[in-house]
Amino acid sequence: MLKFSICAILASSFAIANPVPGGVTNPPIRNVYTFPINHFIENIAIRSNSKLLLTSLSVPSLWSIDPTEATPTAPVIHTFANVTGLSGITETTPDVFALITGTWDLPTTRAALGSLTVWTVNFNSNPPVIKNVTSIVNSTIFNAITTVPGKPHLILAADSAIGAVWKVNLITRRYDIAFSDPLFQRVSDTPGENLGINGMLAKGNYLYFANSAQNIYGRVKINAFGDKIGAAELISTDPIVGGHYDDFDLDAGKNAWIATHPNHVVKVRPDGSQKLLQNTTLLKNPTAAEFGRGSAKERRTLYVTNGGEFTPTFDLINGGVVSFDTAGF
Ligand SMILES: *[C@@H]1O[C@H](CO)[C@@H](O)[C@H](O)[C@H]1NC(C)=O
Ligand SMILES: *[C@@H]1O[C@H](CO)[C@@H](O)[C@H](O)[C@H]1NC(C)=O
Ligand SMILES: *[C@@H]1O[C@H](CO)[C@@H](O)[C@H](O)[C@H]1NC(C)=O
Ligand SMILES: *[C@@H]1O[C@H](CO)[C@@H](O)[C@H](O)[C@H]1NC(C)=O
Repeated sequence: MLKFSICAILASSFAIANPVPGGVTNPPIRNVYTFPINHFIENIAIRSNSKLLLTSLSVPSLWSIDPTEATPTAPVIHTFANVTGLSGITETTPDVFALITGTWDLPTTRAALGSLTVWTVNFNSNPPVIKNVTSIVNSTIFNAITTVPGKPHLILAADSAIGAVWKVNLITRRYDIAFSDPLFQRVSDTPGENLGINGMLAKGNYLYFANSAQNIYGRVKINAFGDKIGAAELISTDPIVGGHYDDFDLDAGKNAWIATHPNHVVKVRPDGSQKLLQNTTLLKNPTAAEFGRGSAKERRTLYVTNGGEFTPTFDLINGGVVSFDTAGF
């Protein structure tokens, strides 16, 4: 409640400092799908056939949603045994996705040591083929994962606990810390401040990242093997006090569209200037954002996952996914 009242006060001062150019109002937001109680929706990847793949940190299933349907449903693709939830997901080769499972302690967002496992889900067969790549013995969190450009067998994983990026080779199954940086670090071990590098996307010669605890977005230059070849650069800080950047996507103009707690999506231009879409009704602790695929309309539609919100009795409700058309915003 405190968070929401602080944001309500700041929203008005932000509106004065950053008027919407030309009086363009915020685009309407569509509710695509709301999950039942206690589904903390964590991450999203989108298939070339436009279908959304969603993960939850609190339920060990992978769901598929066809957002082009008028009233979408969310069939389960697979439920993973002996784990409690899923985190990052990324496409590696056409219609093959890597994802992370683990046994999570939700209040601290850490996985039991040894429980993190990297899987691949191959949709080129029906039913999809699901393979265990490797379990990770020495990390407590792989948050977002991203594929190294041009190297479909190499993924990078954000370790929000120790402020480092790991590299996993999907063929040799070897994994290790690749690099770290002061801009990846958490602030403290207090929940809310204990998630350093969180959202991540490798594109071209850069790894773009968001650090939730420090509430910053930036980039770091990488080589063809996904290794860091320069210091991380700060691009922006979320303008809302108490806001926390989470995961994001980049558009063709390298603008980042960042899902931001507790109730906004921020468009960050490459020069660091920002535009804010805030909606307390439909944005409920946004955790990740991804542009649609398929038709021109899908490609300019941003899908935003909602972690959800707690009721006074500590039930988590309204986890799900919403969307809006970014044209003109
Ligand atoms: C939130 O989005 C809904 C749906 O687009 C809209 O009806 C409502 O006015 C928005 N609320 C705010 C505060 O912008
Ligand atoms: C899950 O755990 C049970 C009990 O420890 C074990 O028998 C089973 O093989 C495990 N399943 C998988 C897929 O790891
Ligand atoms: C995944 O494979 C690893 C070996 O790399 C094994 O130790 C682990 O038990 C497997 N996990 C599951 C859930 O099958
Ligand atoms: C983590 O464990 C793997 C597998 O044993 C090992 O290859 C790697 O060097 C370890 N890395 C760290 C940072 O402990």
